[in-house]
Amino acid sequence: MTEHGGGGQLRVESVDMVYELPKGGSVQALKDVSFDLEQGRLLTLLGPSGCGKTTLLNILAGFLAPTGGQVTLGGSAITGPGQDRGMVFQQGALFEWLSVEKNISFGPRMKRADKSGTSARVEDLLKTVGLGGFGEKMVYELSGGMQQRVALARCLANDPAMILMDEPLGALDALTREKMQSLILELWSETGKTIVLVTHSVEEALFLGDILFVMAPRPGRIERTYELPFAKMGLEVEPRELKRSPEFVDKREEILSLIWDMEEQIMGHEGEA
Ligand SMILES: Nc1ncnc2c1ncn2[C@@H]1O[C@H](COP(=O)(O)OP(=O)(O)O)[C@@H](O)[C@H]1O
Ligand SMILES: [Mg+2]
Repeated sequence: MTEHGGGGQLRVESVDMVYELPKGGSVQALKDVSFDLEQGRLLTLLGPSGCGKTTLLNILAGFLAPTGGQVTLGGSAITGPGQDRGMVFQQGALFEWLSVEKNISFGPRMKRADKSGTSARVEDLLKTVGLGGFGEKMVYELSGGMQQRVALARCLANDPAMILMDEPLGALDALTREKMQSLILELWSETGKTIVLVTHSVEEALFLGDILFVMAPRPGRIERTYELPFAKMGLEVEPRELKRSPEFVDKREEILSLIWDMEEQIMGHEGEA
């Protein structure tokens, strides 16, 4: 495994994010968010729409500067985008006019990396994400699931210490989604990278999260933290079987009712307005 410059512990300290609205007023998207995450953990962020998941991810990516608090990775402040962090979006972030191979090698080519080294690496990555032999295809020739495999490979090509994913499987059909969940677990265990993954799905957050934050809105914050065994188990046990196990089902019900209560409160407040 390679050593990463800029990797190490992620530390989020008292982060606030207030958006000023163009017509006046403001939205507190995050309030006093603090946590530490060791290198190599897989954190899932779950919560109702508007609770600040994307905002938090964008702050970790360095696309947004928080209005309060600070974020460090391996002791260095995150002040902008960097090679040590990679982002995978829901869909549509690939270069449609380039081949699969050209998409994956984009980062290394920008860095003027050695050509033969890069093409060997791309071959490797294609196999890693289950797309061996697809290098010459154009992106638009691929299904949604295959495109997300390319997005993962493109991210891995830059060898980031931390991968940020914003609902990466949200647009996929159920079967493809399950296969991709297993792929993410395999990549996680094989690469030792830190992953922060946003999802709307309770089941996905439970299955993939080695640690899970349930977030709450208004203001966006971490409502509850779960340390979970399922991600590691999912590498050994058949996923469907694991998701049917009493332990998994109990946790799913617990989190669902937590989120239900939250939604009810939100609806209640909206009723008052
Ligand atoms: N650029 C922006 N300007 C103003 N408000 C924003 C902006 N981006 C997000 N928000 C608001 O901040 C809150 C959190 O949004 P977001 O991080 O997208 O939540 P999530 O990803 O959990 O749905 C929401 O109320 C949203 O409307
Ligand atoms: Mg979002």
